[in-house]
Amino acid sequence: MKYIIEHMEPELSEWCYAEYQNISKIVGKNNLIFTNTNETKLKTLGTVKNQSVTQLNLKKACLLDPSAKETLKPQDKNKFDYLIFGGILGDYPRKKRTEPLAKQLKIPTRNIGHKQMSTDNAVLTAFIIISSTPLQKIKFKDKLTIPIQKGEEVILPYRYILINGQPFISQKIINYLKHNPL
Ligand SMILES: C[S@@+](CC[C@H](N)C(=O)[O-])C[C@H]1O[C@@H](n2cnc3c(N)ncnc32)[C@H](O)[C@@H]1O
Repeated sequence: MKYIIEHMEPELSEWCYAEYQNISKIVGKNNLIFTNTNETKLKTLGTVKNQSVTQLNLKKACLLDPSAKETLKPQDKNKFDYLIFGGILGDYPRKKRTEPLAKQLKIPTRNIGHKQMSTDNAVLTAFIIISSTPLQKIKFKDKLTIPIQKGEEVILPYRYILINGQPFISQKIINYLKHNPL
């Protein structure tokens, strides 16, 4: 399975880059393709294509979209060769920025639940499902509270996968928040 991240942010922020580093560790550099970007910095993490995924005319591809009607299941690994994700930072309330991509691509779509996850959490969840564990067996935590300094905290109103009881979030993102409070 190849994992495609359609970069849709105006720039490659530190936050975005930290998520992309996580994604490369999860799926492996050889299975990761970034589209719609010419950021040379990403070449250490995967293949980088200037073209949008909408121009690639891929066969057996599926878009991960929180608004999709069908849920991704382990058997989908036999149906698809590519899983496509929006390289989009979370927004609250949700702006449904993946939906225009779905309209352009006109390919099958799948959800992994309807709660909004960060792109790295969405990739990890899909990776676990494709490796044979159905969504209902995966544990999540909704909403993270990150202490910044005494009396100050940042709430991330998204869904995080729990790995050994700990939410999956890069230490780089926590450090970023400590230095750049929202
Ligand atoms: C932070 S989310 C984008 C959120 C954006 N506000 C939206 O509503 O489309 C980044 C990407 O992760 C994937 N994703 C996140 N949560 C998902 C879910 N519950 N089901 C399917 N895909 C999800 C999608 O590919 C999405 O484009």
